[in-house]
Amino acid sequence: MARLTIIKEGDPLLRKHSKLVTDFSPRLHTLLDDMQETMLHANGVGIAAVQVGVLYRMAVLLTDEFGIVEIINPVIKTAKNPRVSSEGCLSCPGISGRVRRPHLVTIDYQDRDGKSHTQTFHGRDAVCCGHEMDHMDGILFIDKLQN
Ligand code: NI
Repeated sequence: MARLTIIKEGDPLLRKHSKLVTDFSPRLHTLLDDMQETMLHANGVGIAAVQVGVLYRMAVLLTDEFGIVEIINPVIKTAKNPRVSSEGCLSCPGISGRVRRPHLVTIDYQDRDGKSHTQTFHGRDAVCCGHEMDHMDGILFIDKLQN
């Protein structure tokens, strides 16, 4: 595995919409492995591919409930229980702030082999999922800060 460079707020790539993943090849697996290593080394709990400069709809989450979860082409099925909680982002070092998000989220997604799954995330895991899915549409948590 290799550590990748995390791009930072101000880089226009972070504002792009990512594309659907269609090729579930060994190259994809290597990228996911490298994203995981990069996230863990940076003490993050989530990283989207765009943050390492790759415009595909996928992210690695470090969840409380399930450990590492790789979500590819995620789609929100239900989102409930909006609450305000504190967030940060590996692309916005030194910044944290309060964001309102659903704390109960169910998504459809594919795994690294292209197999479809449905999963429900609660609490901090739901926040992480929503934050990473925002990255896939060029949205940063600093866009959503509450007073
Ligand atoms: Ni982030």
